[in-house]
Amino acid sequence: MKRIAVATDGSDGGNRAVDAAATLAKVNSAELVIITVGGSMTGAELRRLATGDGDLSKTLKDKADRVLRQASRRARRLGITTATLRCGWGDPAESILEIAEREKADTIVLGRRGRGRLSGLLLGSVSQKVAGLATCTVVMVP
Ligand SMILES: Nc1ncnc2c1ncn2[C@@H]1O[C@H](COP(=O)(O)OP(=O)(O)OP(=O)(O)O)[C@@H](O)[C@H]1O
Ligand SMILES: [Mg+2]
Repeated sequence: MKRIAVATDGSDGGNRAVDAAATLAKVNSAELVIITVGGSMTGAELRRLATGDGDLSKTLKDKADRVLRQASRRARRLGITTATLRCGWGDPAESILEIAEREKADTIVLGRRGRGRLSGLLLGSVSQKVAGLATCTVVMVP
């Protein structure tokens, strides 16, 4: 493990993935790449936009930036001061795989669940798709 990519959507599961990835990077003296894929909105955010209150692309970009900043703060607390931050758009799993490959990551760390509300599911659709398609090691954090 020399280049570890971690994907986060800013959820508790994503945060736990960031903490685990930062710890792995620290003990392995590896590089850390933090990835978030923007584009999803909550009902409240959609309503705000529908009333003409706000700029869609800016809202989405700000949100993705916040997730990356929060994740890099967590990594810093665990001793990783030089994480690479990457934001993707579109299908989260495909975008995560594409960025991880471009960044030459040898490991992808993900949470088992994310922001989704179908709590009955054992595994989120993003973690399932990434684990199924990745050509590198995948670490799944509960
Ligand atoms: N937009 C995203 N950007 C980066 N990483 C993500 C994104 N969405 C999910 N992930 C990663 O995948 C993990 C699992 O999330 P996933 O989306 O698969 O579960 P879920 O939200 O509970 O279910 P679903 O999205 O299928 O309703 C997260 O903890 C995070 O590590
Ligand atoms: Mg999700």
